[in-house]
Amino acid sequence: MEPLIKYRAVIPAKGGYRLPLLAGEGRMGGRFIGSPLQPALECSNRGRGRLVKNRFTSSLLRYYLIIACAASSVATPVRSQQFDVPFVPTPQVVVDEMLRLANVGPGDFVIDLGSGDGRIPIAAAKKFGARALGVDLDFHLIIQSEESARQAAVEDRVKFMQQDLFKTDLGPATVITMYLLPAVNRRLRPQLLDLKPGTRVVAHDFDLDDWKPDRKVTIRKNVFLWIVPAKVAGRWRMRLALPGGERAIELELRQRFQEIDGLARAEGQIMAPLWEPRLGGDAISFVVVDGEDRDNEASLYFEGRVSGGVMEGEVRRGVGNTQSTGKWHAVKVGQ
Ligand SMILES: C[S@@+](CC[C@H](N)C(=O)[O-])C[C@H]1O[C@@H](n2cnc3c(N)ncnc32)[C@H](O)[C@@H]1O
Repeated sequence: MEPLIKYRAVIPAKGGYRLPLLAGEGRMGGRFIGSPLQPALECSNRGRGRLVKNRFTSSLLRYYLIIACAASSVATPVRSQQFDVPFVPTPQVVVDEMLRLANVGPGDFVIDLGSGDGRIPIAAAKKFGARALGVDLDFHLIIQSEESARQAAVEDRVKFMQQDLFKTDLGPATVITMYLLPAVNRRLRPQLLDLKPGTRVVAHDFDLDDWKPDRKVTIRKNVFLWIVPAKVAGRWRMRLALPGGERAIELELRQRFQEIDGLARAEGQIMAPLWEPRLGGDAISFVVVDGEDRDNEASLYFEGRVSGGVMEGEVRRGVGNTQSTGKWHAVKVGQ
């Protein structure tokens, strides 16, 4: 069966009022348009009401969108320019999926960027016990969200602020949620990458370009999860203590978002690759083959945490009943 698309879009207008643009639903044939934000995407990308062709795109809809795109660029020069995305609510089942995928719990502080009618912060508090903040430029949506939070009896754990998402301090968040347009996601990316390692970022519909998601699920809509990686690229000096004695190893790590690779060199030896390197937030693991003694070679399995210019954790040499364990500690010594 073809997917049923429920559709609602509003555009910001002069003085912060929103004009209901369109509401409706239909079964789409032919090419599946992934997002109800698609008209906004088309509008913002092309600056006019050009539409993706499908049966659902009636001439009436076409007429509405052409008028809307024209209105948003002509009739609302001051206020509407501040809005980077129109209000299109995330379906409740997708809200649930975003929060489930981010593994939100009572210890979390969720910030929804462009919070619309407040449904994501309210669900985070009501269903997952988290504290949450919603920020939106639209005053009327903020008032509506506050009222909904009162009705849901979560007003002590959820706050809403009328402010620009780009000027919001994201530092206290453990989880960021967003349903924004691709260009807005891209602009936010440097700020997201600077968040505390381990912060979860979850987005509905649009991804973060070439920063690959750590997970993606599709339940009606695409939902993406990223875990902010620690910054580990550079040269590190490591010491490890195993029952045989203490040893020094130099590491060179390269990084592209959460993907890492690198080389290791034990004192007096040639560079060898790091095997199975993984970075998840501040958690790092990799394997170095200890081949110094050909008759007794074994893998060194490193697991640890990164905190600024220091990494440390546990190392295991070998497997089964021949294995030994110890500690390792590394300090960043250069880029
Ligand atoms: C697509 S809606 C998403 C609403 C809600 N997060 C959800 O998923 O149901 C995007 C929201 O971002 C708000 N918005 C647009 N530009 C903004 C900006 N620069 N700062 C804060 N909010 C903004 C709009 O008013 C709108 O409510």
